[in-house]
Amino acid sequence: MTNRNETTPLPTSDPLAPAVDVPRWWQSGVVYQIYPRSFADGNGDGTGDLQGIRSRLPYLSALGVDAIWVSPWYPSPLNDGGYDVADYRDIDPRFGSLAEAEAFIAEAHELGLRVLVDIVPNHTSSEHVWFQEALASEPGSAARDRYIFREGRGPDGALAPNNWTAVFGGSAWRRVADGEWYLHLFEETQPDLNWENESVRAEFDDIFRFWLARGVDGFRIDVAHGMVKDQSFPDLEHSEGLLENSQVLDHPHWDRDGLHEIIRRWRGILDESGRDVMMVAEAWVHPHRLPLYLRDDEYHQSFNFEFLETQWDLVGARTAIDDAIRAAAEVGSAPTWVLSNHDVMRHATRLGLPSGTAWRAWPLDGPHDVLDTVLGLRRARAASLLLMALPGSMYVYQGEELGLPEVWDLPVDVLDDPVWRMSGHTHKGRDGCRVPIPWTREGSSFGFGANGAWLPQPATFGPLSVESQTGVAGSTLELYRSALHLRRTLFVDDQRFEWVDLATDVLAFRRGSGVVCIVNYGDASVALPAGDVLIASQPGVTTELPAGAAAWVRPNGT
Ligand code: GLC
Repeated sequence: MTNRNETTPLPTSDPLAPAVDVPRWWQSGVVYQIYPRSFADGNGDGTGDLQGIRSRLPYLSALGVDAIWVSPWYPSPLNDGGYDVADYRDIDPRFGSLAEAEAFIAEAHELGLRVLVDIVPNHTSSEHVWFQEALASEPGSAARDRYIFREGRGPDGALAPNNWTAVFGGSAWRRVADGEWYLHLFEETQPDLNWENESVRAEFDDIFRFWLARGVDGFRIDVAHGMVKDQSFPDLEHSEGLLENSQVLDHPHWDRDGLHEIIRRWRGILDESGRDVMMVAEAWVHPHRLPLYLRDDEYHQSFNFEFLETQWDLVGARTAIDDAIRAAAEVGSAPTWVLSNHDVMRHATRLGLPSGTAWRAWPLDGPHDVLDTVLGLRRARAASLLLMALPGSMYVYQGEELGLPEVWDLPVDVLDDPVWRMSGHTHKGRDGCRVPIPWTREGSSFGFGANGAWLPQPATFGPLSVESQTGVAGSTLELYRSALHLRRTLFVDDQRFEWVDLATDVLAFRRGSGVVCIVNYGDASVALPAGDVLIASQPGVTTELPAGAAAWVRPNGT
């Protein structure tokens, strides 16, 4: 902390209404996302597991997060990294057992950490008993009606029922032996469920109750804008971008009005539990439609991907912040913030690419010499500090606290994400952000496990490991630890927020505690207002904030 005496004036602008008066845990907390395959491998089989996660709970507690969201851990062929669920009420043996999941939940609770599980309602795995039954049953049978089977077009039905495409590429329809086609908006082993069918709805009611009974504190709902389809199955009039869930209005399979009745049903189940539980939607919908999902009797919150989609750009950042705060305030919810997850390029790399780079295609298409990794990490640290200072809650993806880069240059023969195959080898997919976490400087898989890792880690992971960064002043890990602890005292109880106009190229806002967060989007250093620099994204910040840096300052007199 640096005490300063300069007197740079600190002008103010009109305050935005506070999003929430007294935040509940999920309205202000920090949720840490674990992608179980890649977090920590306790049994040395190269794949992360519950034993590994449990052994790292003290690390998460010390990091200063409030909750853990575990990506799917259910029995699965792992054709889509576990988002292809074969049984919603059990744990994949590679990850552990149900008893271990229960032990994990209890241990997390003892450390004051809440637990969110991932629910995947749009589709099951083709290995789910229901789909196996459907395949073994006649067209028109009750078993088939749990999924979306249709006859094909053309004289012998050899053409797909319509032109819908899978998010990962190719047609969204696959033909089975007796000639019918089934819909899969994702991989072909992820058949879409038929949410018009009451037995599907009842099954998910029960799945929610199952996990509530095991003590979970919340749910992340996968593809929350999916499920309901236009029952006339019309052709799409536009083409869909790969991995980009289009946000057009009145889309035949995204963001349909009929979804809300399902959401209210789930919300009723959560409310009935009488516990302080929540559900968060992964809904890639038009920003104007998002508040509909956040009405009182629907989701508690939704990921907000607008900030993630902006690059290093002051106007874009400010717009995304305003939009999220306003949208949340409209429905009495709280905004959420996220920079990385298991589906997108890690932000330490994304922010090191020139503005306008199509980062989903860049790992394959390049040009690769435009990447500035030093700049990327500098901006990533600043962006994280910025998000941690905002009102609302934040989602942190495993490894971002280490400043891990995207491993964009994985050799194609190790790629596991179905996107690589289904895109016709035009997109490498999402493996680059799923490379196992380095815990130690050296050793087999840098401490991830005793016998290597399911995806190769680059040599650069050693110096970025938890061991290498622990206790090292200025490391990204120590920055996260300090910032997350400070955040609890500075930014949680009082959710007020107001923009402050400081200088061109500078984004600044004051929070209810009086602390000001300042981010320098320009190319030159800027003078900081007089006061105490509580934390900065770069070491040695006292009176000046370097380009690409952020700081939290308590102005003199507050
Ligand atoms: C969500 C998940 C993603 C998965 C897809 C299909 O977008 O985050 O990883 O591939 O849904 O379940």
